[in-house]
Amino acid sequence: MKALRVGICGLGTVAQGVFRVLQDNADIISRRAGREILISVVASRTPKPDVDLGGAVFSTDVFSIPAHPDVDVVVELIGGEDAALRIIESSIEQSKNVVTANKAVIALHGKKLFQSLSSKGLCIGFEGAVAGSVPIVMSLSEALAANEYDLIAGIINGTSNYILTAMAKEGRSFDEALRAAKKLGYAEADPTFDIEGIDAAHKLTILAAMAFDIGFHYEAINTEGISDITLADIKYARQLGYEIKHVGISRRTSDGIEIRVHPALIPLEHLMSRIDGSMNALLVHSNAAGDTLMAGPGAGELPTASAVVGDLIRIARGNISPINIDLGSPGRIVATENITSAYYLRIPSLDKAGVFARVATILSDYDISIEAAIQQEQIKPGKDDQDWVPIVILTHLVQEKLMIDAIRKVQDLPEVIGPITRIRVEQLDQ
Ligand code: HSE
Repeated sequence: MKALRVGICGLGTVAQGVFRVLQDNADIISRRAGREILISVVASRTPKPDVDLGGAVFSTDVFSIPAHPDVDVVVELIGGEDAALRIIESSIEQSKNVVTANKAVIALHGKKLFQSLSSKGLCIGFEGAVAGSVPIVMSLSEALAANEYDLIAGIINGTSNYILTAMAKEGRSFDEALRAAKKLGYAEADPTFDIEGIDAAHKLTILAAMAFDIGFHYEAINTEGISDITLADIKYARQLGYEIKHVGISRRTSDGIEIRVHPALIPLEHLMSRIDGSMNALLVHSNAAGDTLMAGPGAGELPTASAVVGDLIRIARGNISPINIDLGSPGRIVATENITSAYYLRIPSLDKAGVFARVATILSDYDISIEAAIQQEQIKPGKDDQDWVPIVILTHLVQEKLMIDAIRKVQDLPEVIGPITRIRVEQLDQ
C-alpha cells in the first residue's frame, strides 16, 4: 500500500514530538497502520534549522500545506485560533482529513467544522487536544459508546496541576513553578490560558459536547483558575483531609447539565487527589460501565505527539468515521448560581472575641451548616498593630447563590479585614 503522506503545520514542541515518534517507532507504526506514515512537507513561520526533518520539504508558508499535492492528511499544530482555523477549513475544502491538537479551535468553532466535515465525508482527529496522551476522546466515542454518561470530571490542565503540585509538595512559589512549566513545554503560548482555566474550559467544552449531546458551549462554562490559590489554602485543605486540584466537571443532574472549571478540594482518599505534576486524569461515570478512571501525562512533547500519531494511524488504516457529536440538541445547561456544592472558606479576621460566632450566625441565617473549622492559633500582626487570624470553614452542601449572598454578608463584618477565599469541595461522585 502507498504511504500516507502527512503535511505538518507548525514546528513547535508537539510537532517536533510527532517527528520523533514517527522516526523512533517507524516499524511498529507501519505494522499497526498497515502502511508507512511519512511526513512529506512541514511548514513553520520560523525556520528551525536544528530540527532533523528526516527528508521532509520545508516551507515558511503554513497556508500552503492543505493544497500541497504531496499531502494526503493535514496535521495542524500551530496552536492559536485564527490561522489554525483557516488551515483546517482550507484542508476540508481540499477534501483532506485533518489531525489537530488544537482545543481552542474545536471548542470555539466545533459546530461549523463538524458540519463541513460531515458534508464532505471527512474526519478530524483531535485526541491530542484533550488531556495529552490520555485516550479520552476515543474512549467516549468508541470504547464507552454503549453508555449514557452521567459525569466527566478530572484534571485536564497539566500546567495548573504541575504548579499546584510544586506548591503543595515542594513549597515552591506560584511564579517559580509557572516558569518551570513553561520551560518543560507544558504551558500554552499565553500561559494565562492555563492558570486562568481557559485551556481547561476549551477541553471541557469538547468533552461535554461528546458526552452530553449539548453542542459546543464554551461561553456557558463557569471558568476559574488557580492564580488566587495560596500555600496557606493548600496547608489548611490538607489539615481538613483534602488536596487542592484544578478540575473540569460536567455532570448530568435533574436540572440539566453542569459544566464548570475551577480549583476544588478533593478528598485525600480519592485517587484524583494523587494525580501529580503534569499528569491529567479523567473520571467517567456511565450507566453500564460504572466508574472508569484514566490517567496519564497531560502535556508535553511526546505524550501529545503520541495522541496525534494515534489519530494518523487510524486514518492510515482507512478508519475515517467521524467522531459522533450531536450538534443539534442543546441541552439545558445549569446556571452556576444554581449548582450545589460544599465550600471551603478562608476569612481573614481581627482576633477579637465573638467573630467566629458572628460568622457562624450569618451562615446559619442562610441555612448553611458548618462541617469543620480551623481557627489558626498563631496570630499574625496586621495593619495598625491589630492582630488577625484566618478563620477556615468547611461547609456542608449549599446552593451557590446562597453561599455568595452569605459571603457578601460576612465580608461586610467590620472584623473581616480582607477578601474571603472561597473554593468548592468536590467528592467527585455522581
Ligand atoms: N497547556 C496545556 C496543559 C497543554 O498544560 O495542559 C496540553 O493541552
